[in-house]
Amino acid sequence: MTALTPKTTGPDMTGSMMTGRHFLNVRDLSGAQLRRILDLATEYKTALKAGRTSTSMAGRSLGIIFEKPSTRTRVSFDVGMYQMGGHTVVLAPGDMHLGRGETIPDTAQVLSRYVDAIMLRTDDPSKMHALAAHATVPVINGLTDDTHPCQIIADIMTFEEHRGPIAGRVIAWTGDANNVAASFAEAAIRLGFEFRIACPASMPPAAWLTTWLKNPGETATGGKVTVMEDPKAAVTGADCVVTDTWTSMHQEGDGLDRHSLFAPYRVDEALMALAKDDALFMHCLPAHRGEEVTDPVMDGPHSVVFDEAENRLHAQKGVLHWCLLGDA
Ligand code: CP
Ligand code: NVA
Repeated sequence: MTALTPKTTGPDMTGSMMTGRHFLNVRDLSGAQLRRILDLATEYKTALKAGRTSTSMAGRSLGIIFEKPSTRTRVSFDVGMYQMGGHTVVLAPGDMHLGRGETIPDTAQVLSRYVDAIMLRTDDPSKMHALAAHATVPVINGLTDDTHPCQIIADIMTFEEHRGPIAGRVIAWTGDANNVAASFAEAAIRLGFEFRIACPASMPPAAWLTTWLKNPGETATGGKVTVMEDPKAAVTGADCVVTDTWTSMHQEGDGLDRHSLFAPYRVDEALMALAKDDALFMHCLPAHRGEEVTDPVMDGPHSVVFDEAENRLHAQKGVLHWCLLGDA
């Protein structure tokens, strides 16, 4: 009979202590911690492109729970874990007892006995915080109604690959001041760039973000967030122009005439021409071509949207490594 091999990796099978650390929001991390994740992401990308195999997640499993649709987040976490020698279990609430009344604290404690980390995409961030409070393994924010931190690690990585350090640069956001914009704003403060948000006066950034910006803790030199109504003012002289859908997943059917409200914020060639000559165009995708961005911009010389999508894969390897393996 073969002797059982002791488990040398994976969750603490007693469930008694937290192993690793959560990645819930950009604002929870210091500038140095964000920089470490970005460096790790680049190391993983370089290794993959050179054909070197990673085993850093060997024996480890990641549970990924989606309460909303996803293409990029789902595929990039799943393939990323595979490429690191690990494994994912993809879960939809309808497949789990979570979807029929098992509590988040109970689900957190059960999953912590099986998997080494949990990624959650959900609506209400309080669900994510409840999961994190009761899990003994790291929880990763795969998007909530409020924030999308994994996206912003990929976005900064993409900017820096094309244009060098983001510190001191100007990133202009035009359109809905949504969850992606909020994580970008948090990153501006921690990493020292200017983030200009152009949005309708009737649809300002979320109150929680405005409150946080008044007292954000660590602020890197040059880190600031400005909010304005005029997209032209925001984009003029910018190093990068960013937008996102006018209707996020949680805003569908909210009764607002979003098309009329946001039409002046569409990124077209005329708006892009106000940015620096070598400005980048970024979009987290999925894009609604002809709404927030025109085809000539999406497919034009400034656009790095597919590099950005690819970098979700590499960025999240940095996040997983940081959560599970530490800074080394
Ligand atoms: N950008 C992003 O998170 O895409 P998905 O919704 O497809 O995961
Ligand atoms: N703001 C968008 C991002 C999708 C990746 C949403 O929440 O639907």
